[in-house]
Amino acid sequence: MTDPVQDYTRLGDLIRQRTGLALENNRHVDVARLGERLLEELNLPNLHSLITQLDAQPTGAPLWQAVVDAVAVGETYFFRNQAHFNALRFHVLPALVNQRRASGQKQLRLWSAGCASGEEPYSLAILLRELIPDIDTWYISILGTDIDMDRLGVARRGCYGRSAFRNETPPDVREAWFTPCEKGYQIGDAVRRMVIFNSLNLVEDTYPSIATGTMHLDIIVCRNVTIYFDTPTIQRVVNNFHQALMPEGWLIVGHSEPLAANYQNFIVRNFENAVFYQKQPLDIASLFVSPAPTLSEAPPTPLARSVPARLAARPPDRRTAHPAPPPASKLNFSIAEAALQRAKQAADREDWDEAQRCLAEAGQAEALLPQVQYLRALIEMHAGRPQNAITALQRAVAHSPHFALGHYWLGELYVTRGERRAAARHWRLAAQSIANLPSDQPVLFADDLTVEMLRGLLALRLGTLPASS
Ligand SMILES: C[S@@+](CC[C@H](N)C(=O)[O-])C[C@H]1O[C@@H](n2cnc3c(N)ncnc32)[C@H](O)[C@@H]1O
Repeated sequence: MTDPVQDYTRLGDLIRQRTGLALENNRHVDVARLGERLLEELNLPNLHSLITQLDAQPTGAPLWQAVVDAVAVGETYFFRNQAHFNALRFHVLPALVNQRRASGQKQLRLWSAGCASGEEPYSLAILLRELIPDIDTWYISILGTDIDMDRLGVARRGCYGRSAFRNETPPDVREAWFTPCEKGYQIGDAVRRMVIFNSLNLVEDTYPSIATGTMHLDIIVCRNVTIYFDTPTIQRVVNNFHQALMPEGWLIVGHSEPLAANYQNFIVRNFENAVFYQKQPLDIASLFVSPAPTLSEAPPTPLARSVPARLAARPPDRRTAHPAPPPASKLNFSIAEAALQRAKQAADREDWDEAQRCLAEAGQAEALLPQVQYLRALIEMHAGRPQNAITALQRAVAHSPHFALGHYWLGELYVTRGERRAAARHWRLAAQSIANLPSDQPVLFADDLTVEMLRGLLALRLGTLPASS
């Protein structure tokens, strides 16, 4: 005979481990009653056998779905929390849309994590349709995920009863975006097509990843989901969200989500009755970490012989794959390298004139050409001059044909001009350049991007293009 108190504790622990849902925080759930109900429904002899079966099965299995159904709260409705939607409508989205338009990159990626029956991601889709008149010329991806498959089924069907529309739901939304149907209101196809639903357990480390479509996001909305999670789990989830976001991307959590301390990696942004968390901007210097002029992704070129003694004397690491060349033009190189550092610092201060002056100086050392052109391209992209960025990157890849990040950005720049073939060509060249590198190696000039992440990103970007590109 096992001790029933111990069994209930083990059941609670197992549910917390697998779903993040801590039952003691989940006051509406009585573990004893939940256990009894499951035993009856599943026709099992005792708690011990229930626990053994649960332990042996993946969280997506029907047995676990019965548990999730009993434990998770799926309450949601369209445009829940007006203050959040106002902050998005009047501040966050207009700025983001304008910025993307100016840079010629008409794309947005949003994720509603813990979307229940889909009202939240559909509200985001409706909001974007209302805000962007030429939305059909944009690349917009909205992902809705949840652990509860039944609710995801409702979301995919897109048919809602009256309770999905409450006081906070703008009154014209139902008429504008739904048609009456037998069971209530059917969401229109234009909105439905904008959202993809997938099951994803936030407690499992399957994100950020290409496979789950959870990388390089502009906005993550995760509201009223982590309220029942314990603190270490929340910190892990929030940390994963941070990695999944683009620089300056937004994390939006619910009003009752605990402890601001969990979001300390983010900048706190206050709006009327709403607090959002924003990831730090791109630090150009951090994108540009390796001063080594020999590109590990490139074959040795005669120009690489001007590596200075200081760098050449370093023990060989995974980035500098080629033998150290003699210190032929040490003095010139040192001066140019110092100018490059000044250019990076000026770019970080957003002093673009000074950055350009220093770059011109640094550009005199030919071995630094890829670095100089890459930094120039980043500055030009920032300034909204995509053509100049393309010219700079073309020079960088002409000098170092295996410069993966250079090809990657060329792909991004071409695709936003509608030049899909050119984009596909550069993304393929980027993929070839890193094909034989170890997965966990940082990509040259981008310490926080590994080869594996870039591979995934390239697969995703190539997947957005027609096969004929
Ligand atoms: C209250 S609903 C929130 C819906 C919507 N975000 C909103 O605020 O209106 C909470 C959702 O979180 C989901 N959830 C709970 N634990 C989860 C987990 N570990 N992974 C993914 N989703 C989870 C539940 O299934 C439920 O559908």
